[in-house]
Amino acid sequence: MLCSPKMNSMQWKNISIRFQLSILYSLLLVTLLSLFSFGVFVNTKNFLINNTAVRLKAQAKPVIQQWLYLNREIKHEIDAGYLKEKAHLLAVDLTSRDTAALVLDKHGSILATGRQLKEEPVPVPPNRSYYEKSLSGNNDVSYTERNNGHLFLVVLIPLRKAPGSPAVLGVLQLSTSLSSIENILIRQKTILIAGIILVFIAGALLGLWITTTSLKELRIMASACNEISMGDFEKRIKIPKRNDEIGRLADAFNYMIGRIKDLFDAQSRFVVNAAHELRTPLTAIQGSLEVLMRGAQDDPQAISRLTQGMYREVTRLTRMCEQLLDLSRIKNSENARRERINIKKYLEDFAQYAGIIAEGRKLTVTGEPDLYISADPDSIKQVLFNLTDNAIQHTGREGIIIFDCKSSGDKVKISISDNGSGISSEDIPHIFEPFYRGDPSRSRRRGGTGLGLTIVKTIVEANSGKIEVISKPDEKTVFTITFPLS
Ligand SMILES: Nc1ncnc2c1ncn2[C@@H]1O[C@H](COP(=O)(O)OP(=O)(O)OP(=O)(O)O)[C@@H](O)[C@H]1O
Ligand SMILES: [Mg+2]
Repeated sequence: MLCSPKMNSMQWKNISIRFQLSILYSLLLVTLLSLFSFGVFVNTKNFLINNTAVRLKAQAKPVIQQWLYLNREIKHEIDAGYLKEKAHLLAVDLTSRDTAALVLDKHGSILATGRQLKEEPVPVPPNRSYYEKSLSGNNDVSYTERNNGHLFLVVLIPLRKAPGSPAVLGVLQLSTSLSSIENILIRQKTILIAGIILVFIAGALLGLWITTTSLKELRIMASACNEISMGDFEKRIKIPKRNDEIGRLADAFNYMIGRIKDLFDAQSRFVVNAAHELRTPLTAIQGSLEVLMRGAQDDPQAISRLTQGMYREVTRLTRMCEQLLDLSRIKNSENARRERINIKKYLEDFAQYAGIIAEGRKLTVTGEPDLYISADPDSIKQVLFNLTDNAIQHTGREGIIIFDCKSSGDKVKISISDNGSGISSEDIPHIFEPFYRGDPSRSRRRGGTGLGLTIVKTIVEANSGKIEVISKPDEKTVFTITFPLS
């Protein structure tokens, strides 16, 4: 039954890599070995046959010399009559138990056959197309022919008027059986075929063993993947340490699973924290509404206090929603608008604007002029605003906030420092996490959500930068942002 090529390739892909590799490996081995064996076989066959032809010619040469040309003057050439006269002697002398000799004249008629005894071989019938070649003077005519089921080698030697003369009077045909050579060749063929089959079987088994051992790790990886896909993110690929492609794949895979687990953990922490942050104002609003419904509507002072409280909570909820929307917008906007910004000038403009909300704190701008970065100006404004807002929140009215910019190799470092309360070393690793606040009740009182620095970090990274913080409690806090120089 014929299969379409598409079907065949589908079936091939369904076979495990282990079998595919060992089949391909064995087929390659067998093909190479067959080609090599064929070469060796043909070479041996040609060698044995050529050797026999050379032997026959070597045997014939002195006999021809003796019967046709010896005792005659070189100048005197022989003629057809002389050849006819000596043909019988020549043929008899060259016939033996394994060689049959025939002498043909220049018309192809048999002049003499040397066979006298029954055990001497019967000559192969002359083949016109070959003896005509020989009659035309060709010295190298030999061919193999099957006669009565046996293979014979036939050698044709032109009989010339004189040695080296172009005129040919007849042809001497010598034939000998190639049975013994044929037996040797059949034996060699059998050995080679058996060798090929053995190599195929051994190659397939060896290939299967090699691929099974080297692909064992891939099977372990596949089963680890299955367990991970069922939700077991603690699972890791455990294979003996190796430095090859499989070892590197396992390391990369384990690293990737670690990262995915971190992302999942961060995601679920985010959802839990967001739900918690939303619940707090909602619970406060619900409590105020319950008090109002229970009869506080007759107490104008209570109404005013409760509605003001509800207004504060709603404002906080609205701010949190806006910040969450900002976060998702920043994360999803792939190609943010980028402009070349003169950073010192930008900081000076910003400091002027921030002075309005700084409530007496001293804002200073220092640093190198004419440093440029490529970033989205609106986003950079939000970064500066969130950092300045924090600095204002954590310094007293006499606080000093310094904006600085300087180049460092192919980077620009922008820092915002304050001399406020500082951040404790326990808080520092967490301050960029969503909803994290060093002092939750204080931050919440003033409407903070703990998303400010998360937004800052997301924007900085979206603009190819990074942010670091150094802080000494009650002394200073320095946030440093590094951007590539534009
Ligand atoms: N300049 C600073 N000095 C001292 N502590 C700081 C400073 N900046 C940030 N922090 C600490 O890091 C925490 C996280 O800051 P972040 O800006 O993310 O949240 P927040 O200011 O509390 O609230 P939000 O910014 O949403 O109004 C703050 O609660 C505070 O504890
Ligand atoms: Mg903040």
